[in-house]
Amino acid sequence: MLFIRSFMILFLCCMTIRINLCFSSNPSSLRNLSVDGHFSFDEVHHAAKDFGNRFQLLPLAVLYPKSVSDIATTIRHIWQMGPNSELTVAARGHSHSLQGQAQAHQGVVINMESLQGPKMHVYTGNNPYVDASGGELWIDILRECLEYGLAPKSWTDYLHLTVGGTLSNAGVSGQAFRHGPQISNVHQMEVVTGKGEVLNCSEKQNSDLFHSVLGGLGQFGIITRARISLEPAPDMVKWIRVLYSDFTTFATDQERLIDPVQASQFHSDGRTLYCLELAKYFNRDRADALNEEVGNLLSQLRYITSTLFQTEVPYIEFLDRVHVSEKAISSAAATGSSMLTSLDDTVPDDSR
Ligand SMILES: Cc1cc2nc3c(=O)[nH]c(=O)nc-3n(C[C@H](O)[C@H](O)[C@H](O)COP(=O)(O)OP(=O)(O)OC[C@H]3O[C@@H](n4cnc5c(N)ncnc54)[C@H](O)[C@@H]3O)c2cc1C
Ligand SMILES: *[C@@H]1O[C@H](CO)[C@@H](O)[C@H](O)[C@H]1NC(C)=O
Ligand SMILES: *[C@@H]1O[C@H](CO)[C@@H](O)[C@H](O)[C@H]1NC(C)=O
Repeated sequence: MLFIRSFMILFLCCMTIRINLCFSSNPSSLRNLSVDGHFSFDEVHHAAKDFGNRFQLLPLAVLYPKSVSDIATTIRHIWQMGPNSELTVAARGHSHSLQGQAQAHQGVVINMESLQGPKMHVYTGNNPYVDASGGELWIDILRECLEYGLAPKSWTDYLHLTVGGTLSNAGVSGQAFRHGPQISNVHQMEVVTGKGEVLNCSEKQNSDLFHSVLGGLGQFGIITRARISLEPAPDMVKWIRVLYSDFTTFATDQERLIDPVQASQFHSDGRTLYCLELAKYFNRDRADALNEEVGNLLSQLRYITSTLFQTEVPYIEFLDRVHVSEKAISSAAATGSSMLTSLDDTVPDDSR
């Protein structure tokens, strides 16, 4: 299968909607709530930070839930305070938002990564899936699924993000053109609603809730569990990268790889370089055939030939390109530099 990544960074959550689930008064009554985990009222400063580093909204309290019922109890309590309360609630995943989306000014932040259940569970069979907690990191889901020779179908480029955090947005990577974004690869979710009810939802059951929560920017409920569609995992990835100095040629070739329709007209006189990155998943026993296919494919493209970079890496190393994403993205975010500069960091070291 052919997956294409063009080097555009998807900061999908640049929306201005920030505060989730608006509720209500006498916040100190939270101290009396009985939960399996705990509330922190003093050490809350970290919950006023995110990847964007532009918003610092101090919450009143941070809930470290141990169970789904901790979340339900807290939200039900706030709901019962009534509509005049100013208290807001935000789920916080890995806080890789850029504009304070996972923060709650003088409200309650729910630290989803401390949720200890339900435990991750992989189901094999004809239509395999994994049940994972909303606070689980995608990298940990990948590791667990690979134990069964399986993997989710749709990814983000960067895997140190939570299930709840990306399903609240979309979850886009090089597989989205084929499988759809991550939100199109979920069978079912367990959600704590704004009233503090715990509901399962799917296409068939509570479907309004299901479709609202997926891509719902944390506004429609808190995802405590998701059932994610899996497929057999390949062993290896043929990783190819080439550069173009002409955008039209670049876009034409990119479209050739996605589907046979030829590129529409683009005009660019700038000297920007365009990077097309391709990945072809394969199992080791198909290595020869794969190399032939890739050779044929590349011979049809019109990139600057001297820029061709190719390597073969194990599947998990390819998906977890931490050194790529973190360095590239943080340097781009910090300096506003072009992605090309950051690309230098993406060349794997010799050991790969
Ligand atoms: C370095 C980096 C690389 C990225 N790469 C990609 C990429 O390749 N593809 C892509 O699509 N996106 C990418 N993103 C964007 C990323 O997917 C979103 O910012 C995502 O929201 C971050 O997930 P998180 O776990 O950090 O969520 P947070 O930032 O903690 O939360 C994001 C939003 O989701 C809500 N939320 C969190 N958990 C839950 C839950 N359990 N239930 C309901 N709502 C919840 C929060 O309240 C908030 O509104 C990247 C971001 C960064 C910083
Ligand atoms: C918390 O509980 C104590 C004793 O049970 C009670 O006296 C107090 O009023 C409660 N505080 C709030 C804010 O509800
Ligand atoms: C939701 O579904 C799961 C798995 O199908 C089930 O174990 C759980 O009891 C359900 N929860 C509710 C609240 O119906």
